[in-house]
Amino acid sequence: MKALVYHGPDKKAWQEVPDPTIQESTDVVVRVDTTTICGTDLHILQGDVAAVTEGRILGHEAVGTVTEVGDAVTGFAPGDRVLVPAITKCGRCAYCQRGMPSHCQTVGGIGWIFGHLIDGTQAEAVRVPYADTSLYAVPEGVTNEQAIFLADSLPTGYEVGVLAGQVRPGDTVAVVGAGAVGLSAILTTGLWGASKVIAVDTNKFRLEKALEFGATDVVEVGPATVAEVIALTDGLGVDVSIEAVGYPETLLTAASLVRPGGSIANIGVHGTPVELPMQDMWIQNVRLTMGLVDTVSIPTLLKMVASGRIPAEKMGTHTFTFAQIDEAYDVFKNAAANSALKVVITPA
Ligand SMILES: NC(=O)c1ccc[n+]([C@@H]2O[C@H](COP(=O)([O-])OP(=O)(O)OC[C@H]3O[C@@H](n4cnc5c(N)ncnc54)[C@H](O)[C@@H]3O)[C@@H](O)[C@H]2O)c1
Ligand SMILES: [Zn+2]
Ligand SMILES: [Zn+2]
Repeated sequence: MKALVYHGPDKKAWQEVPDPTIQESTDVVVRVDTTTICGTDLHILQGDVAAVTEGRILGHEAVGTVTEVGDAVTGFAPGDRVLVPAITKCGRCAYCQRGMPSHCQTVGGIGWIFGHLIDGTQAEAVRVPYADTSLYAVPEGVTNEQAIFLADSLPTGYEVGVLAGQVRPGDTVAVVGAGAVGLSAILTTGLWGASKVIAVDTNKFRLEKALEFGATDVVEVGPATVAEVIALTDGLGVDVSIEAVGYPETLLTAASLVRPGGSIANIGVHGTPVELPMQDMWIQNVRLTMGLVDTVSIPTLLKMVASGRIPAEKMGTHTFTFAQIDEAYDVFKNAAANSALKVVITPA
């Protein structure tokens, strides 16, 4: 088969590789019908993720069809249409049992293994370990172009943003960074009845998208960002401030927007230390949360997509074939210039 192979910083190739096979009785093999690219894949290509070694097939999001099942697999059969999520889980270790498979100890100490510790989903086929506990059947009425965004971006915005930030009916919410993840938070904030959702971004196209995804107000980043957001909340600040960029300055902005008693939910992946003004924050009774997505909200999100409450397909702005995967990476890498959010990649 063909797959996108990592060959060290800035080097990747769509090339012939051996077909994946069943290695453990709990494995299945999935033919990839739809995949996409994540910001994390760009980090890997910059050489930022040391655990990804040369020869690794990239990608951790897919929708596909089961082609082969191991002897111990009971929940899936060849022909089933499945969502392969970013997180793999054994279902039995202490972290899986407390509902936090992001730290599944059995699969490698961390639940994110595709395109990281084992071969990934930007390929014609992928081996999925612990298939019974990791895969999700895609209901009829949910298309591949919708389901693909439930593998990572949508659960991340929902779990690490909206749920961790404890958005409640009537709340005012700010989302700093309206990329795929921030927009996913905006899209799912409505499920909890936020009264006001303020998107903050440097990019006008992303702010336009934010309004389409359910933001009530937008603030373009400038010298008065914090004052403008505070003014939109009657001078009080927001109940929940979600950070979805991953820079020190954006976390500081998110922290400045929250009112006493509120929550700051950091989603961004940070590469450097952040100095927080604890001398001002301690007395504000605020909470700060952070973490890796568990993807345990996928069943909920699948139902909401199936019923039409979450228009997940809006996330895909560009479509490519596997043969055009280099072009897909170029468009995604220069997303702002290309008015792109997420790309949809299919075999043909
Ligand atoms: N915690 C997790 O489990 C998890 C999972 C997936 C992604 N992430 C992280 O979430 C973050 C967002 O991911 P994404 O895919 O949406 O990224 P993205 O690059 O698509 O979006 C980032 C957005 O931030 C905006 N931005 C840049 N600088 C800004 C600034 N100074 N102020 C306000 N906005 C600014 C950009 O214009 C863009 O719209 C990343 O850090 C990513 O690594 C975390
Ligand atoms: Zn990802
Ligand atoms: Zn586990």
